[in-house]
Formats: sequence, C-alpha cells, structure tokens
Amino acid sequence: MALVTSKGAPYARVMGLGAAVPSRVVDNAEMCTYIDSSDEWIQQRTGIVERRWVSEGETVESLSLDAARQAIAHAGLTPSDIDAVIISTISHLVQTPSLAAIVAAKIGCTDAAAFDIAAACAGFCYGLAQAESLVRSGAATHVVVIGAETLSKLTDHHDRSTAFLFADAAGAAVVGPSETSAMSPVVWGSDGHQADVIQMTRTWSEAVDEGKPSQVAMAGQQVFRWATGFIADATSRILEASGLAPDELDLFVPHQANNRITDAMLRHLKLPETVTVARSIKKYGNTSAASIPLALVELIESGEAKSGDTCLMIGFGAGLVYAGQVITVP
Ligand SMILES: CC(C)(COP(=O)(O)OP(=O)(O)OC[C@H]1O[C@@H](n2cnc3c(N)ncnc32)[C@H](O)[C@@H]1OP(=O)(O)O)[C@@H](O)C(=O)NCCC(=O)NCCS
Repeated sequence: MALVTSKGAPYARVMGLGAAVPSRVVDNAEMCTYIDSSDEWIQQRTGIVERRWVSEGETVESLSLDAARQAIAHAGLTPSDIDAVIISTISHLVQTPSLAAIVAAKIGCTDAAAFDIAAACAGFCYGLAQAESLVRSGAATHVVVIGAETLSKLTDHHDRSTAFLFADAAGAAVVGPSETSAMSPVVWGSDGHQADVIQMTRTWSEAVDEGKPSQVAMAGQQVFRWATGFIADATSRILEASGLAPDELDLFVPHQANNRITDAMLRHLKLPETVTVARSIKKYGNTSAASIPLALVELIESGEAKSGDTCLMIGFGAGLVYAGQVITVP
C-alpha cells in the first residue's frame, strides 16, 4: 500500500486584505520633543510626517485581531474556513505560546494550525510565500498571514538614529485556492553576515540581568546602501521571475522603510509612470512586517488600487533578510 499524500490547489491567490493602526498619532513636532531633530530633517531624510504608537488597551494582539478579521471578511469567508494562521512579528514578547495560536483562538479559527515567524520587515512576504506553498501542497485551504509590530515598545524614544522611523500597525491577508495564477514565485534570501546591521541591543536574559531594556539598534547608512543596491536588484529579479513586463505592472508596494530608498529603487527599476507607487510611510512611518499590507490597503481604500491589479512587493530588513513576489489584488 502506498502512503496517501496531500494534493493541493493548482494556484493560490490573495483573497482578502485588512489593516489596523493605533489611534494615537505622533507627529514630527512631538518626535522632536524626544530627540534633537526637526520636522524638515525627518521629512527630507525619510518622507515621514507622522506615525502611530499604541496607547492604553492597544497591543500587537489587538492590532492583529483587527487586521485579520477585516481580511477574512474581505475574502468573503468566516473564521471557521481558516485552517492556518501565520504571524510575522518580533513584538510578541513571550516566547511561547505563539501570538498566532492566541489570535487564531480569539478570532474563532477553531483547530487551525498556528505559528509565528521572525523575518522582520520581510515577514509579510515570507508569510505569503509559506501560505502559497501550504495551499498548493494541500496542507491548508485558507491561510491568514499577519504582519504585526509594536516597535514603539522596542525602540529607544531618545535614540536619534531610530526613534523617528519605527512605528506600530498590523496588516493581514487571506491566501486561498485559485484556478488561475495570481501569485508569482517568491524571490527571497538572507545574509546573516550582516546580522549586526539591525539588531536588538541585548538578549532578554541580559536585559533582566542588566536591568536595561532590549531595543532595536541600526547602522542606518549600511542599511541604506544595502537597500538601494542589493535590494533594488532583488526587486528586478522578482519582476523577472513573475514573467511580467514593467508596463504590465499596476502597483509597486515596497516595504515602507524610507522614501529615499523607494526613489532609488524606482531609478533602478525604471518602471513606467503608469505604475502607482505606495508612499504610506508619510502617515505611518516604518511599521516593519505590517508596512506592505498596510500600504496596499491604503491604496485600495483611496481608489488608487483596484481588484485585478498586479502588485510588485518587496520586504527587507533585519537578518538581513528579504522576500518579494507579484500578486493580483483581490
Ligand atoms: C536613518 C537615516 C535616515 C539617517 O540619515 P543619514 O543621512 O544616514 O544620517 P547620518 O547618520 O549620516 O547623519 C547625517 C547628519 O544628520 C544628523 N542627524 C542624524 N540623525 C538625526 C536626526 N534624527 N535629526 C536631525 N539630524 C540628525 C547627523 O548628526 C549628521 O549631521 P552632520 O552632517 O552635521 O554631522 C538613513 O541612514 C536611513 O534612512 N537609513 C536606512 C534606514 C532604514 O530604512 N532602516 C529600516 C530598514 S528595514
């Protein structure tokens, strides 16, 4: 007798999207009460005008729940249709159980497989790649992928090199079966030789022993060089792997790290002017794993993106890691 193996859908697609941001707006004027900077400097160097930070009652869990519920409703599904939940986060400060298991239960995804991944600002695209594989292998039918961060809790608000950049949000997508192609092959990778370029200042046990918090530290210029060189090139490889010509693209949604990085990518990619480029960093700062779904939802809500559009995405960040693919907008 031969073992039974799983059999999945011919293709996978993103069926629904959702996003959630905290209510508290922290503008550059408030930021400049924490660090020696100016609204002009922050806008000119990054494009950020304001960002959101969690306040009383808002957590990485509550943002995840909100975004996931929206994505499931947008997909036309109910929680009982979901059989796997993946959350990319570094902000869930309990090592076990996973945030995904808690969120799956609270949403009502009964008996869904659930696990967290840590791929920093590339986490949403890493999660999408996993979800696509699960659906096409038959291991799952409908997967919720969430990118959620509360980096305001992991950033030194008085650190001039990080405080103005990082912020809080969650974004989510439901991935399910499709009869036609709607997600290109993922292009992804890592370079642990550059692990020290963006990293936490100490382990959790060192934080306890030393009585000091563990926070994100970054060598900004090194990240900038990597993102405008290697990552711009990786973005070209994603487009090439998708089989689409640049003029067949409708949307470009890069990780919202910095407008100047996005500008450098655009110079490298030479995309036609008909391609709409996400710039949600202006309102939300760098929300890490949440930034791509948040930016895409913003484009849909503003009417700049519509169902059926082709969307090139690239996430990149601490690790160093990167991942991206082209999807069809649900
Ligand atoms: C962080 C970043 C905006 C800093 O810009 P930069 O041009 O590299 O800044 P530098 O550290 O070289 O400093 C340049 C000048 O600005 C000043 N400066 C640094 N931080 C400042 C701040 N927050 N406000 C005002 N001035 C600041 C420095 O003192 C320096 O002044 P000087 O020329 O008089 O000596 C930039 O490196 C960057 O965007 N990197 C990528 C970060 C990123 O996207 N990370 C996330 C990836 S997931």
